[in-house]
Amino acid sequence: MGELILVIDAGTTSTRAMVFDRAGALRATAQRLLAQHYPRPGWVEHDADEIWTDALACARQVVTQAGGADRIAGIGITNQRETVVAWDKLSGEPLSRALVWQDRRTADACEALRAAGHEPRVQAMTGLVIDPYFSATKMRWLLDHAPATRAAAAAGRLALGTVESWLVWKLTGGAHLSDAANASRTSLLPLGGASWDAGLCDLFGVPLAALPEVGDSAGRLGETRPEWLGAPVPITGLAGDQQAATIGQGCLAPGETKATYGTGAFVLANMGGTAPRSRHRLLATVLCQLGGARTYALEGSVFVAGSLLQWLRDSLGVIDAAPDSEALARSVPDSGGVVIVPALSGLGAPHWRPDARASISGLTFATGRAQVARAALEAMAMQTRDLAEAFAGDGATWTRLRIDGGMSANDWMAQDLADILAIPVERPAFIETTALGAGMLAALGAGLFTSLDAAAAAMGGRRESFEPAMAAPARQARLALWQRALAAVRAEAT
Ligand code: G3P
Repeated sequence: MGELILVIDAGTTSTRAMVFDRAGALRATAQRLLAQHYPRPGWVEHDADEIWTDALACARQVVTQAGGADRIAGIGITNQRETVVAWDKLSGEPLSRALVWQDRRTADACEALRAAGHEPRVQAMTGLVIDPYFSATKMRWLLDHAPATRAAAAAGRLALGTVESWLVWKLTGGAHLSDAANASRTSLLPLGGASWDAGLCDLFGVPLAALPEVGDSAGRLGETRPEWLGAPVPITGLAGDQQAATIGQGCLAPGETKATYGTGAFVLANMGGTAPRSRHRLLATVLCQLGGARTYALEGSVFVAGSLLQWLRDSLGVIDAAPDSEALARSVPDSGGVVIVPALSGLGAPHWRPDARASISGLTFATGRAQVARAALEAMAMQTRDLAEAFAGDGATWTRLRIDGGMSANDWMAQDLADILAIPVERPAFIETTALGAGMLAALGAGLFTSLDAAAAAMGGRRESFEPAMAAPARQARLALWQRALAAVRAEAT
């Protein structure tokens, strides 16, 4: 039997594969950028076939580098969550472009559901507010607007799923599975229910027969067709990328909290075995399910983090490369009063305003690239601080925050987070915690370890700490500026 773990990480902007050993050391890695399609303002689509072919190409590359499929004990799949794929059960081909989690096209449908008074029940059952972010209204949109999807549904051939279930289908040649944590992002799974709720499927207009079977996050979940990797390999772990990062950060005990700064910023606090209820517009979600037992998390989802730097680079040309933002931010003593509220795809937690639009305020003739870059980085700490307040209101006060994701490599941002949150911020030496967490689950599922704690202890690494150093008045001044700019954005959206 193999002793290595293959992880496929199908993220928002790239698809990757990595091979880890049982000590958590990275043995091989491959990556392909994923094309983003923006057919209209607020619409974001991916080509599901590109996700699959890139995942397979990356997996083949790293498995070859690692010595072949016989050396792989199990595969962990981690993925951008909520994104909806519709495919034909007979041909296995996508029926439309995938609707990405950032896509806001169902804002009106969500507003109608809220206006009809459905949100309290949906929130009580699923832990989620009603927002275009989640999968259910996207699934309905495809049925209403994509003729091929509607025809497949009528013929009983429609498969709907999030990205992990799409990849499982393709890898296994027809198993339709999801894990409880990914399923908990659709608005169709009750937090405490074993599977999809027929009433929620009715409410959102999603045919239950098209949905995958819901199961554990680790175990013998399926087996790849032999031709894909040269031999059949068991799929032994499934996790949405934010859940995977939480596990990869070792947040396995209640209260332990991580923030991932990728395309968006996602904060998850482990809440143990009882589903939390947020009173401050946070999400209650499944962290993982092992042996049928669930661990829950409280989540704050911020839609724009690294994508703000991408936008400053690609659309405005303010920076040449995302890492340049650090040197630019350090080159000035402050942002000169410039504040960016990065509501480029509406506002997520704790505001939930899909109609909000971003702003850059406080501009003067003295404003240059450095002030704008600094304001962009400052916005990360400010958005995170708004979440900290909501978490504290829900009784999950952070005493320290573990950070990861591409942007967390930015030392200036890490220090600014510690300063604004006034708590220590810890960053692992190996920041690919999403892949590592999926690797831990897959190693558990493959039987390399007997518990997730044991997998995390063996595969986790060192961390460095950023200590808060900002004086309270400076922090308060930043907060006041931010709150004024945020209030203006919110007022515009009403
Ligand atoms: O909920 C969306 C999230 O899973 C996307 O994560 O890392 O692709 O920005 P990421």
